[in-house]
Amino acid sequence: MAAAVTAPNTTNARSSKTESYVDNKRRDDIRQANILAARAVADAVRTSLGPKGMDKMISSANGEVIITNDGATILNKMEVLQPAAKMLVDLSRSQDAAAGDGTTTVVVLAGSLLRRSLSLLSAGIHPTVISDSLYKLSVRAVDVLHSMAIPLELSDRDSLVKSAATSLNSKVVSQYSSLLAPLAVDAVLSVVDPEHPDLVDLRDIKIVKKLGGTVDDTELIHGLVFDKKVSHTAGGPTRVENAKIAVIQFQISPPKTDIEQSIIVSDYTQMDRILREERNYILGMVKKIKASGCNVLLIQKSILRDAVTDLSLHYLAKAKILVVKDVERDEIEFITKTLNCLPIANIEHFREEKLGHADLVEEVLIGDGSKIIKITGIKNVGRTTTVLVRGSNQLMIDEAERSLHDALCVVRCLVNKKYLIAGGGAPEIDMSWKLGLWAKELKGMESFCIKEFAEALEVIPYTLAENAGLNPISIVTELRNRHAEGETNAGINVRKGQITNILEENVVQPLLVSTSAVTLAIECVRMILKIDDIVTVR
Ligand SMILES: Nc1ncnc2c1ncn2[C@@H]1O[C@H](COP(=O)(O)OP(=O)(O)OP(=O)(O)O)[C@@H](O)[C@H]1O
Ligand SMILES: [Mg+2]
Repeated sequence: MAAAVTAPNTTNARSSKTESYVDNKRRDDIRQANILAARAVADAVRTSLGPKGMDKMISSANGEVIITNDGATILNKMEVLQPAAKMLVDLSRSQDAAAGDGTTTVVVLAGSLLRRSLSLLSAGIHPTVISDSLYKLSVRAVDVLHSMAIPLELSDRDSLVKSAATSLNSKVVSQYSSLLAPLAVDAVLSVVDPEHPDLVDLRDIKIVKKLGGTVDDTELIHGLVFDKKVSHTAGGPTRVENAKIAVIQFQISPPKTDIEQSIIVSDYTQMDRILREERNYILGMVKKIKASGCNVLLIQKSILRDAVTDLSLHYLAKAKILVVKDVERDEIEFITKTLNCLPIANIEHFREEKLGHADLVEEVLIGDGSKIIKITGIKNVGRTTTVLVRGSNQLMIDEAERSLHDALCVVRCLVNKKYLIAGGGAPEIDMSWKLGLWAKELKGMESFCIKEFAEALEVIPYTLAENAGLNPISIVTELRNRHAEGETNAGINVRKGQITNILEENVVQPLLVSTSAVTLAIECVRMILKIDDIVTVR
């Protein structure tokens, strides 16, 4: 009876649908074009994933060459035009901001999810259904990751070093990870404020790059380093003990007029007067500086006037004041925070209480005849630290800096959220397996979509194995079986070329990197799926 009532309704619905027929071809085409473009970007970085991943050489129009393995850097440098493909570049940038590491993983994941979306779309499933299933999947996936996580104490330095080393292992500078990993941990821990134990501002860690030596010579300096020489043309000091340091934002040179003009001097007495005035003006300033007890001057760079002239350098040298000029404006905050002093904007405000104190300021000769300035033994030192990165060539130094940044971010993630998770594809395959089981409990389209997307997560272990020269299909199948048997931490041991408990291999990463990679990738795919038209406006 019931069937008899519903049957005519269905027929009606079908006929009305046929009448309001809309041409969906254009929308489908646009969706397809977007997905294909975004997938092309993901495929471009796929080979860089993992410890055995390849590096990219990026050559720009102005002849600059970069060699890197960092996903965010590769994508940033690529000149992507297609708007949907640009979303993947942004995706990697967001991962860089949220976690710092996992920037390749997030793009590869998004690429794989897009591939499955395309096949679901062509099976006739509506984009909204796909997108909703993805949302449910992301919530569940994060739960699975949380259930795998291992809590961590910040006092457990070993685990922190291990996770920093994991992130460095996939970089060009991986052979130096035994030096850089502990260095990154020490750097981050030294800037953690006990009042806000969960927050780390990476701006408190300054990375100074200096060409020469090898990456092995990279060191952590509790103090300040400037990649410049002391201005001592007039024979001023290059080493000062018991330093009283002033950071000044004014210039020790004769003032200039505001408007462009020329002054014609017609006789010698007037000329003498100008010179005398200039001398008195500068001498007056130097006397005031000396009177406060200051013996080291850090002068901010000025674009309007010379920071110092030969004459002022001469007087400063006589007063035995060490001068460092051309300090960049954006470094001032870091310097004053480290020295625990105040920047001085005008000579009238030059007072002793604004100075910073340090045991030693000296110009040091390093490597091949180049010099740096070091300030050490700072009293009341602020919560900052400096890393001096060395390297034999610019390519190496730049990549070392980027890799160190990743390692610092990894430690920062662990300070923010104190959980570790196994690496080597273990979390992805575990998610895939558990979500696959969950899909079987669901019904209808949703179950079908979730099953597909759960399989899509296998792309990470698949790619790790592929990049390491292993047989991806047999590795992933075995990995899946091991996880089905309950070995949650079974992962790809790239060194031995087989599957082992990856925790024993010390391959661990922060939970935040994995959770943010999954959620951001899914968010991006959902956004791409929801686009059905591209409108260009002028
Ligand atoms: N020794 C190792 N053995 C197995 N897997 C590893 C090892 N070291 C790292 N991995 C895995 O490699 C992946 C990370 O690779 P990689 O560092 O190249 O990419 P990423 O972190 O996503 O991006 P990027 O570092 O460029 O921001 C993670 O899944 C991690 O678990
Ligand atoms: Mg990494």
